[in-house]
Amino acid sequence: MINLIPATPENVKKAAKVIRRGGIVAFPTETVYGLGANAFDERAVGRIYEVKRRPSFDPLIVHVATHEQLERVALTIPPELKKLTDAFWPGPLTVVVPKNPQLPAITTAGLETVAVRMPDHPVALFLIQEANLPIAAPSANPFGYVSPTTARQVAETLGDAVDLILDAGSTPIGVESTIVTLRNDKILLLRPGGLSVEEIERVLGRKVEELKSEDPLAPGMLKRHYSPKSRVVILESWEKYYRLRALYRRVLLVLPKRMCGVEGDVIFLSERGDLREMASNLFRILYAADRKRYEVIAFFPVPERGLGKAIMNRLRKAAGI
Ligand code: TXA
Ligand code: MG
Repeated sequence: MINLIPATPENVKKAAKVIRRGGIVAFPTETVYGLGANAFDERAVGRIYEVKRRPSFDPLIVHVATHEQLERVALTIPPELKKLTDAFWPGPLTVVVPKNPQLPAITTAGLETVAVRMPDHPVALFLIQEANLPIAAPSANPFGYVSPTTARQVAETLGDAVDLILDAGSTPIGVESTIVTLRNDKILLLRPGGLSVEEIERVLGRKVEELKSEDPLAPGMLKRHYSPKSRVVILESWEKYYRLRALYRRVLLVLPKRMCGVEGDVIFLSERGDLREMASNLFRILYAADRKRYEVIAFFPVPERGLGKAIMNRLRKAAGI
């Protein structure tokens, strides 16, 4: 793969030039790999939709490295959201705020709001600073598929359709950012992710509201998403696991933590049952299970607190429930 290059300082500078010239570059963030373009370049952003086969109604996240860049994309930041960006940026938090009219409509899929975040990854920040412009970047996977946590996964799924892929190893968090917005004086969770709801509530001193799935404020939040080719099943009982094994030849069992004496192909999301470790392993396991052509990947649920909320959200979407 000729476009897969290590994220050395020289190569990041090269990638920044590619972005300035209207190209598209896959790059690491602390959550997952993103596929980036100049947020103000309609044609370059259009190429991202094309390469990902992403529907035009699904808006992108704009990545900034400074507060000055934030002002170029956002019109205003409500004080409560500012409190959150002060506390958690750079980090796995995306805020949806009123958009600057100068930002092209294609970047936000025609919405009057824009999703923005400051990623906590040296390569991502260096790239944005060098390009000296906000970078629009969805996760670097074909639409509906699992988000990549390694550069090789990007190369395998998008390949030569992107101009450059910067390789900086595995992304530390492994699930996408948490997305929140303010509406009717409520803090709404649009997508659980790498920053836990508990941490957000601690800083704000009030509850975060869950979004109802039928809410129109959730463009692109389709039910089936993050899906590998193998069928994903969430197990409520061991009985279901044994039934699956009677029905299918190739079943991969995924358990939240180490357990002895289980029959069949089994893998642990975390040795010690640590939710952060589970999140960082989740997508790698889905990619690997697909590559090994398992018919079914069967997960036991993980506790829905901290990062467990994001993990269960992705699993339900992968299972189509
Ligand atoms: O961690 C992440 O957030 C990664 C890395 C690359 O930064 N990015 C990511 O982007 O997950 P993507 O495109 O896969 O997901 C972005 C989602 C969209 O599907 C949409 O649901 C939501 O963000 N979004 C974007 N703009 C929005 C807006 N104006 N209002 C509501 N939701 C929005
Ligand atoms: Mg995505």
